[in-house]
Amino acid sequence: MTDTIDLPRRIPLSHRRAFVGRHTRLRPVLGLPGVRLHLADDAVPIWRATEAALGVATAPIPFWAFAWAGGLAIARFVQEHPQEVRGKRVVDFATGSGLCAIVAMREGAASSVGIDIDPFAEAAVALNARANRVRVGFVGRDLLDDDPPDADLLLAGDTWYESPLADRVLPWLRRAVGNGTRVLVGDPGRRYLPAGDLIPLAGYDVETTTELEDRPVLRARVFTLAGSAS
Ligand SMILES: C[S@@+](CC[C@H](N)C(=O)[O-])C[C@H]1O[C@@H](n2cnc3c(N)ncnc32)[C@H](O)[C@@H]1O
Repeated sequence: MTDTIDLPRRIPLSHRRAFVGRHTRLRPVLGLPGVRLHLADDAVPIWRATEAALGVATAPIPFWAFAWAGGLAIARFVQEHPQEVRGKRVVDFATGSGLCAIVAMREGAASSVGIDIDPFAEAAVALNARANRVRVGFVGRDLLDDDPPDADLLLAGDTWYESPLADRVLPWLRRAVGNGTRVLVGDPGRRYLPAGDLIPLAGYDVETTTELEDRPVLRARVFTLAGSAS
């Protein structure tokens, strides 16, 4: 049986880009001056449209059509502390819209690559990078069983929302730290956040949407992982 996440890979990238463009609106991101993303207004219509495009009854939520609280916190932190990314090779794990990877490039990263298993994210990252006049690479494979990529800085925005993913992300981030990569995590207090391993660096009230969350403003924090390079 084919996982629904694999189906969009059969749709050419140009069609995926057209889909993202058709179902989102390019707009400023609150709290992040100068940053614009292709975002959806409502979750349900774009989710249904994704399922219709794929011809399936249930597809993963189109994460890439929203800026999530954890990613918004990392992006705010990077804008406030550009020295974190300046001249660095940055990898944005679970990039979604590409928000953190894009902000890293805007703030002077040497290179920036988004990783996401959702093939629509590849199209969203391409459109969003172009809208912000930066270059961002993309890897569309699940790398969590591989060695973490060779990078100076690994970002992980809002990845602690489900246990199977959280269980795999934490050891992978620890391996990255062991390889000398600095790790920054952004999170608004999701259920599977591994509090014991994380050192808080900053907190932000981020505006999100009640389409996704139970409140319009969430307190989201940025952490580094214990042992991470400074
Ligand atoms: C809540 S969204 C966060 C997106 C973005 N970082 C942000 O904060 O706006 C979680 C993202 O994780 C991605 N994801 C889930 N499992 C993954 C995996 N094994 N490897 C890479 N990305 C994954 C999903 O496709 C989704 O885009």
